[in-house]
Amino acid sequence: MKKSNKLVVSLRVNGLAYEVLAEPHEKLLGVLREHIGLKGVKSGCEEGECGACAILLDGEPVTSCMMLAGAAEGKEIITIEGLAKGGELHPLQEAFMKYHGMQCGYCTPGAIIAAKGLLDKNPNPTDQEVREGFSGNLCRCGSYPKMVKSVLEAAKVLSA
Ligand code: FES
Ligand code: FES
Repeated sequence: MKKSNKLVVSLRVNGLAYEVLAEPHEKLLGVLREHIGLKGVKSGCEEGECGACAILLDGEPVTSCMMLAGAAEGKEIITIEGLAKGGELHPLQEAFMKYHGMQCGYCTPGAIIAAKGLLDKNPNPTDQEVREGFSGNLCRCGSYPKMVKSVLEAAKVLSA
């Protein structure tokens, strides 16, 4: 009988503690989606190229498809589900809705996470800095101009 070599992985996600039984090679993306049920973390290329799976890890946007779940132990993970507070959407989420920063919406959670990482470090970015902040986010719908506008408008709200 094959002995299970699964590991208990302790994660802190959106302020809550989780313990999951994961394969040693299991990626953080799969653990967040399949074990914890955070389906807002999207699976795209699974090669670190599209940014659909982006999360904040200790405040830094990272691609969860490129990271082993175990490597995230002891770090603070924020997913798109963790941005709304007390039933209120985050200003970035509000702005993406108001300024049509999405079409199909598949890239949107990763894009908003990238934008949050940017605004946390640089509360008043230029248009160019926002564009550069999306360099790791592929939007097949070509919504970039409206995504940039959404971030710039959210920055105004956040710094008002
Ligand atoms: S799914 Fe992770 S970067 Fe594309
Ligand atoms: S809105 Fe469709 S991929 Fe970006």
